[in-house]
Amino acid sequence: MTIILLPFPKKVSSVSVEEAILLRRSVREFSPDPITVEQLSMLLWAAYGVTDPKHGFRSSPSAGATYPLEIYVVVGEKSVLTNSTYLEPAIYKYNDRAHAIELIKHGDYREALSKAALNQPWVREAPIDIVITAVFERTTRFYGERGRTRYVPMDVGHAGQNIYLMATTLGLGTVAIGAFDDRRVAEILTLKSGETPMYIIPIGKPRTQRKTEFADIARYIESVRKGVA
Ligand SMILES: Cc1cc2nc3c(=O)[nH]c(=O)nc-3n(C[C@H](O)[C@H](O)[C@H](O)COP(=O)(O)O)c2cc1C
Repeated sequence: MTIILLPFPKKVSSVSVEEAILLRRSVREFSPDPITVEQLSMLLWAAYGVTDPKHGFRSSPSAGATYPLEIYVVVGEKSVLTNSTYLEPAIYKYNDRAHAIELIKHGDYREALSKAALNQPWVREAPIDIVITAVFERTTRFYGERGRTRYVPMDVGHAGQNIYLMATTLGLGTVAIGAFDDRRVAEILTLKSGETPMYIIPIGKPRTQRKTEFADIARYIESVRKGVA
């Protein structure tokens, strides 16, 4: 099995949580620039990396710590810069405990993934797509129907938001994609039965950077208050 060890997660920015929340927006236009393997490391760690080695708890909360999610990354041609070269275009699976990615299959599958996602162009134009899948049984074993209809989708939302905020912090952009053909995405990722694709998350450098400040929000709130007071 080919396994690529990622750089350790570390403090990489001085962007605060409140600034990341303010600046987060869904981005659908990406520059052709690659991302770096350090950025990939931070994105995967934010999604589902270990933050409590003693108990194995992760960056995202999970109902009953059942952790039903799996994280894949679809890497395009010349899309992830390592020291002196690029990661091989392929589909990889995140090993959260070893903080590594394991090769699933060779090739650039962004085009196929875009087709499976109603041809949404940002899926093929971004250098990478993270795909979050869920093994529902890990949670429904304990929580039954409530696990299926509520807890697993909630877990996915938490991991997705962590990716959004980490991308924003790194100066990258992303958009959470829920509209796709489950069966086709499962085929591309070669998922076993019992594992369901939940989100496709293209990530890259935004073509334009947003500039919103807290003063803009204060002005907005003030104008609304004038209308209601
Ligand atoms: C569950 C879910 C599914 C979504 N699916 C798509 C999608 O298939 N394609 C897309 O372009 N955006 C998708 N979005 C992004 C929303 O369109 C976006 O969050 C919304 O327009 C608000 O914009 P903002 O994220 O910049 O605040 C999805 C968002 C969520 C939460």
